[in-house]
Amino acid sequence: MGTSQRTLFGSAVAALVAILFGMASLVAQAPVPGPQPSGEFFKNVTVLTTMPAHLMQPTMQQMEIALGVHCVYCHEGNNTQRDLETPLKETAREMMRMVADINRTQFEGREVVTCNTCHQGRTKPTSALPYNGEEGTTGPLEATGPVPTVDELLTRYTAALGGAEAIANLPGRHLTGTVTNYGHIDQVHPQRAPTQVLGYEILAKGPDTLMTIQHNINNDAVTVMNGDGGWTRGNGAPTDLRPDLLAVAKLENAVMHPSQLTGLLSNLTVVGQEMVGERSTWVVSGTSEWLPEVTLYFDQATAYLLSLSYQQKSGYCCHVFRNDYDNFLATNGVRMPMRWTMNGPREQVTVYEFDSAEIGPIDDARFARPTP
Ligand code: HEC
Ligand code: HEC
Repeated sequence: MGTSQRTLFGSAVAALVAILFGMASLVAQAPVPGPQPSGEFFKNVTVLTTMPAHLMQPTMQQMEIALGVHCVYCHEGNNTQRDLETPLKETAREMMRMVADINRTQFEGREVVTCNTCHQGRTKPTSALPYNGEEGTTGPLEATGPVPTVDELLTRYTAALGGAEAIANLPGRHLTGTVTNYGHIDQVHPQRAPTQVLGYEILAKGPDTLMTIQHNINNDAVTVMNGDGGWTRGNGAPTDLRPDLLAVAKLENAVMHPSQLTGLLSNLTVVGQEMVGERSTWVVSGTSEWLPEVTLYFDQATAYLLSLSYQQKSGYCCHVFRNDYDNFLATNGVRMPMRWTMNGPREQVTVYEFDSAEIGPIDDARFARPTP
């Protein structure tokens, strides 16, 4: 008799026994976990060895709910074989050891940190601060139908803005409007209220020369991107623009100069499709030295770049910002979004609305860093 036949015979006998005595009596005969150590009661427990066996079930339920999964995420499907090894069981054991270590070394052994502290219903905890409105998004979904290439999306978007030639021939543009800043919510600012509506101007010349001016009550806050450098000035003397903010300024300016995107970002890939409000978009991801994750959302119907999100580095992973663009209006044959909504962490929102866009030459001297 081969092994498989013997096993089959064995299970046939077991099935017969089950039918004769009924399942209930079999279950009743199974040993019930009591206060004895789990390492003695269970077959394959190497971390939770001293935990009372009757705590195994609620412990496992804690883990499944904290990760937002079912038992079978870590175990074999057969619920009589929870002792079998799976790769995720080993990962989970490392996590259990880590949690025990943190509580022992950092919190005098109190159960302060649990799986839920980090996981919060997800298998992969997020390390980036979420941006305002992120809860309402699905993340990119698998594309249905033919998927365009990144080049096709950029070409269509460039055409929708008026064409590469018209964009290249613009001498300069001067946008005027307002900025409304809804600060993030915290202990000092329990409600999100519009702080101030301030005058705002942008002077833009080509793909990498740009000045923004925010007319504060007591001063003008000026930020300039000028080739590979930049400077910014509030009340005091001008200072260098932080390299990550320079990268952001270049990326945001590429909304009006789409041909720049392939130079600014590497690994550009179409990762799927996603709704942005009511509109279906193609989602493109890319990365750069200062902005580890950049995502672009191109409207499938109009080809416009409707949204742009980027991660900004810090000592602890990143902030995620998401800019939404709308109200694409044409001036001198070139379109540009006249309303930009910038969503930051914890309900922080800044809205830029432009009511006029003048096209004309701008003197290079305007962008020069003032000498103190
Ligand atoms: C996140 C992964 C994960 C999830 C989800 C999970 N388990 Fe476990 N389970 C483990 C690990 C790891 C062990 C071994 C623990 C050890 O070695 O100390 C284990 C051990 C067990 C054991 C002991 C098996 C034995 O005899 O050695 C039982 C019973 C068990 N789990 C039941 C469940 C049930 C029921 C669920 C769903 C409510 C569940 N588990 C969900 C990871 C998981
Ligand atoms: C200090 C934060 C933290 C705690 C606490 C924590 N985890 Fe994790 N866990 C993570 C991170 C971060 C990842 C993802 C790691 C990565 O992407 O490389 C992860 C990944 C996992 C995975 C792999 C998921 C997958 O699909 O690849 C499992 C399983 C897991 N954790 C189980 C647990 C369990 C069970 C606990 C509680 C005993 C726990 N974790 C506690 C941070 C934590």
